[in-house]
Amino acid sequence: MTDFKNLRKITTHVLQEMKLNGEKITMLTAYDFSMAKIIDKAGIDIILVGDSASNVMAGFDTTLPITLDNMIYHASSVVRGKVRALVVVDLPFGTYQGDSKEALQSAIRIMKESGASAVKMEGGREIIESVERILTAGIPVMGHLGLTPQSIYKFGTYTVRATESTEAQRLREDALLLEEAGCFGIVLEKIPAVLAGEVSKSLKIPTIGIGAGRHTDGQVLVLHDMLGINQEFSPRFLRRYHNLFAEITGAVTNYIHDVKNEDFPNDREQY
Ligand code: KIV
Repeated sequence: MTDFKNLRKITTHVLQEMKLNGEKITMLTAYDFSMAKIIDKAGIDIILVGDSASNVMAGFDTTLPITLDNMIYHASSVVRGKVRALVVVDLPFGTYQGDSKEALQSAIRIMKESGASAVKMEGGREIIESVERILTAGIPVMGHLGLTPQSIYKFGTYTVRATESTEAQRLREDALLLEEAGCFGIVLEKIPAVLAGEVSKSLKIPTIGIGAGRHTDGQVLVLHDMLGINQEFSPRFLRRYHNLFAEITGAVTNYIHDVKNEDFPNDREQY
């Protein structure tokens, strides 16, 4: 087994080297101290404090309601749990689309109050001024193109994006713009595998795919989906590595049984 303890800490420069060496980058979401500790120890490269916290932690239907304060709370919990991974935090909806000054203030709050290493923002040319301003302040930025869930009410559906040529061309151009602006990486969500491969090849910075096929420089999944805690979400791209919903249900059922039957606590479990 790989000795992950002795692996070096992940920085944006290490990610760049990984792309150059053809080593795939691994990224998972986490929103709390305990899960961050587990996935960091397991050797994950990037922990994304995604605004998917709005869905899997808070139970909302979309990522729109989560606030900057909520994200800072989740991000600071994650930072306390990790040793090696790079922690990237989503700027939530409504905290960067207004103007670049507001975007910078939001990014600064995340960096100062959570101790994270980078922020992620959804969009291309329409947010480029904000991206540049944040980068100028020395804050690393990860882009996010393709399906951008903060725009769900514009798209109207969570279906695959950039399947027709105009949107595909716009995505190619936006990816280049984000790279030229100085982003250290780009998430490509739910786009055709061929397009994701082409974009990944054309860029110097790494791409991290979700539902974007195998030719991106890395992969990301939402932790609750891949562990099978969240059972309601089953897109084609999702591989479930565990059925934690069933495991936890089993453990809780056993606990209820033991308490009801006065089997817990026993003589050795009391003072
Ligand atoms: O919020 C999130 O979890 C994300 C990933 C799906 C990439 O943005």
